[in-house]
Amino acid sequence: MSVQKAIKRVTSTQIAARKNNEPIVALTSYHTHTAAIADPYVDFLLVGDSLGMVMNGFETTLPVTLEMMIAHGKAVFSGAKSALIVVDMPFGSYEESPQIAFRNAVRIIKETQCGAVKLEGGRHMAPTIKFLVERGVPVMAHVGLTPQAINTLGGFKTQGKTKDQWQPIIDDAKAVADAGAFAVVLEAMAEPLAAAITKQISIPTIGIGASNECDGQILVMEDMLGLSPRVPKFVKEFGKVGEAIENAIKTYSQDVKSRQFPSPDHTFDLKQK
Ligand code: KIV
Repeated sequence: MSVQKAIKRVTSTQIAARKNNEPIVALTSYHTHTAAIADPYVDFLLVGDSLGMVMNGFETTLPVTLEMMIAHGKAVFSGAKSALIVVDMPFGSYEESPQIAFRNAVRIIKETQCGAVKLEGGRHMAPTIKFLVERGVPVMAHVGLTPQAINTLGGFKTQGKTKDQWQPIIDDAKAVADAGAFAVVLEAMAEPLAAAITKQISIPTIGIGASNECDGQILVMEDMLGLSPRVPKFVKEFGKVGEAIENAIKTYSQDVKSRQFPSPDHTFDLKQK
């Protein structure tokens, strides 16, 4: 086989090898420009189906389509040059059968060039994960709070608050690891449960609201930037981007109204930043 381009992107196997090692850094991204900014600082970027709520104002992730995931996956892939790009499989695109999941995962990979897909679910999705991995599709799993199951879970709630609720979630994490997932997202989970899972499985755990006990962390980029109007309690806001945008737009509006707007030099040459 000849290689036309040097491959420098992080791979799913490199992420898997980070178990009990340097913590894995991840963020969601939905656009080329945020992907380019985050790329040097993260191991992987997740094109999460949270884009339905964050960017489109949906109440849940359920209305998100395969076409939406592919459009945003392409944008993120073109902005990031080294991070692994993982694209979420949206609700309804993988649950029916391993064959349908494979067809849709392949479409995502061919059209976005991403390096892996993510799907939600534990024991019941293990046969599908195995089917995909055996056919060359790297899969990141997602257990605990699985937002696509919101209507059966009854709300966005922390999972495993009491010890008697732990075992099914531990069994889910073990099942996806045994099926060949290269990593698993643990969402909204009590710290001792996240610690127990991280100790008991051989693949990295990526926490979101699941404590420092995980092998890595992921946050929704808009939440950690301070751009989202409401964030879950566990989110630390590392910036005040919402305020910065509002101030810039306010100043622009004032400049236009007071005719302070700078005269153009009538060229489209780009400014170097
Ligand atoms: O869709 C998403 O953003 C996610 C993260 C919360 C892990 O699945």
